[in-house]
Amino acid sequence: MRTGLYPFLTFANISFFCGFIFIPTLFGFVEKTSNNPHNFFGIIPAPAEIKIDGGKSQIETITISHSDELSAFASQLIKETEGFLYKKSVSSNTDILIDTLLGNEEYILNIEATSIIIKGGSKTAVQYAITSLVQMVRHNGFPLPLVSIQDYPCFVYRGKHLDVCRHFFSIEEVKKYLDFMAYYKFNHFHWHLTEDQGWRIEIKKYPKLQDVAAYRNETLIGHYNDTPHKFDGKRYGGYYTQKEIKDLVSFAEGRNIHVIPEIEMPGHALAALAAYPELGCSGGPYKVATKWGVFEEVFCPTENTFAFLYDVLDEVISLFPYKYIHIGGDECPKSSWQKSSVCQKIIKENGLKDEYELQSYFIKKIEKYITSKGRQIIGWDEILEGGLAPGATVMSWRGTEGGIEAARLGHDVIMTPGSFCYFDHYQSTNDKEPLAIGGYTSLEKVYHWKPIPETLEPPYKKHILGGQANVWTEYIQDFRQVEYMAYARGLAMSEALWTTPGDYKEFTGRFLKHNDYWKTKGVNIANHVFELKPKIMAGKGKPVKISFDLPMEKQVWHEWSGNSKLGNEFDLIDKGLHHFSLDATTGTSRSVSVMFNPHLATKAKISMSPSPSEKYPGQGPGSIVNGLTGSENKYGGTEWLGFEGKDLDILLEWKNPEDIRSVNLRFFKAEGQWIYLPSSVEIYASANGKVFEQIRLVDNITSTSKTAEVKIQAVLNGIRFIKIRVNNFGMIPSGAQGAGHKAWLFVDEVVVD
Ligand code: ACM
Repeated sequence: MRTGLYPFLTFANISFFCGFIFIPTLFGFVEKTSNNPHNFFGIIPAPAEIKIDGGKSQIETITISHSDELSAFASQLIKETEGFLYKKSVSSNTDILIDTLLGNEEYILNIEATSIIIKGGSKTAVQYAITSLVQMVRHNGFPLPLVSIQDYPCFVYRGKHLDVCRHFFSIEEVKKYLDFMAYYKFNHFHWHLTEDQGWRIEIKKYPKLQDVAAYRNETLIGHYNDTPHKFDGKRYGGYYTQKEIKDLVSFAEGRNIHVIPEIEMPGHALAALAAYPELGCSGGPYKVATKWGVFEEVFCPTENTFAFLYDVLDEVISLFPYKYIHIGGDECPKSSWQKSSVCQKIIKENGLKDEYELQSYFIKKIEKYITSKGRQIIGWDEILEGGLAPGATVMSWRGTEGGIEAARLGHDVIMTPGSFCYFDHYQSTNDKEPLAIGGYTSLEKVYHWKPIPETLEPPYKKHILGGQANVWTEYIQDFRQVEYMAYARGLAMSEALWTTPGDYKEFTGRFLKHNDYWKTKGVNIANHVFELKPKIMAGKGKPVKISFDLPMEKQVWHEWSGNSKLGNEFDLIDKGLHHFSLDATTGTSRSVSVMFNPHLATKAKISMSPSPSEKYPGQGPGSIVNGLTGSENKYGGTEWLGFEGKDLDILLEWKNPEDIRSVNLRFFKAEGQWIYLPSSVEIYASANGKVFEQIRLVDNITSTSKTAEVKIQAVLNGIRFIKIRVNNFGMIPSGAQGAGHKAWLFVDEVVVD
């Protein structure tokens, strides 16, 4: 049904719009995104349904007249393309229809021989239709295909986050970020405004938040795991005035993007404590943090602190009209509360069991306050600890478990699991990548992400509102680096949240068009599509195989020891450097070299228990016997295998008896990322697989660098089995990053000679 008729768009060569008549026979077939062989005309995220008959529209020029009724973003898009693909006209005789029978974000875009018709469920949906049309013209050009697109998102919450505390970005830069989001139909901007390293929102009642909390004395240079820590000696900071914030919120509204401010509590509060030390448990003095991580000093849950936070929230609520206020809740160490007699008194007086229930007490009080103002809280998944506040929406970041638990409790959930959604992770394993926090989250991995966990029972799936990409900026010093880290993967994320997951190769076709466009605009978008990603198969008792699954019809040159071969799959036989590159015409490829060092275990069969974590699976168990050595600096990627809080059993098996003289293992150490060396390693050997003899127990494993090796030498003849037990470090001690969690264990090559 029509509920409104807005005469604000005119398409030249277009007959009068007389209502949309759906004629199914006009179109040959309907295609769902998941297996559509076409390139969707360059639209990202790919539309939900497309009906085509293969014909071309005669339209060569689209003429559009402006109207105040369009969203600011739709008007901006039209303006940007004026004179390039469009001609401006003053006459207006074609309509865009608002049809409330369509969903709020649903639109129909119909391109016929001489007319274009748009129907949208709301002004937002009309913006999406215009975005799709502009993308089609911009990234695919004329002639337009005869097509009927009916499009709507899979998820109502499609978010991008930006941390402006670790590094600060100007309002103009944040606006660029919002424009990019709008172009890919994201609808929620999570603005992370307060942190240990800086408080970035003006609060008029507390001027020291501006004078003190907004600035740190200096900043850590290099990676947190590089010791000793070095600092740049330069004061750093800034904040947004309330006037700027209002302007930004209104800019976002013009793009149909809701802004969700995050005010972190009770942890990540060191900057606020530096300004107002009476809000901490020890009374200070405190300093705005100059390095990254989690800090022991947090808000003390006194009435004085709550009065401060209520005041802050009053000002925040007056600036941000959207229903959600994010209150953080993550990574709050309990040690300062354990030591504080005031906290112990609060625990006792309120019948709380421990400091975890004190955290829940804290969040529930804040939730009650925010609810009393007609708003709702979002918190990171730690807000489940000690009991979830009644109206809370949970942002699941430490994996999906928190989200699953919250959904089963009937709470809404936004999925942001680190290994898919953290765009501060590396997007390539290439050593030339700019410094990042760690991990490895490739474009392809993001593309294949499914926000609803498979283990979640059907009645609770409705609670998964959607997902969000998070851009933490410890290692992102300027906006060009935000573009590099967040934009390419943002395109993949937009499809994961909007469209049923489809074919990655097909996506790369669309991606490259968009990539070219942003490059010509001077945007520092990353392109890892042409990067060669070797798949290495090992540990099967056969030669190590290396293969390349390319998103285009290309072959790879393999060059080694004066030989060369073209193909997509190769056995690695000869010791030494093996070089792989795409044929010269592609030009944009990064080649890959591997140093292959075969040893006895590269021809063994491997099994292990448990399997590596799905967050750090390398290329399966064979990764640690493939003759390739994992990076000295990065634990993500294809070589290192990660195990979360578990001991590890490895079994190597040879077809024929072998004479063995040494067994070496390598481990990664990055205590800032919760990765610890093992407490001990036990090595056993057997000739028959039944009777095993312990060869060595190695404990006291230490290292001053990021890796440690355990080397044992022995004379072992006629051996067909080696068993290795690696004992996990155990609980991370208090005072360290990740205290109270079980340590991760990372293993790479097990070299047997
Ligand atoms: C988080 O990444 N600490 C939510």
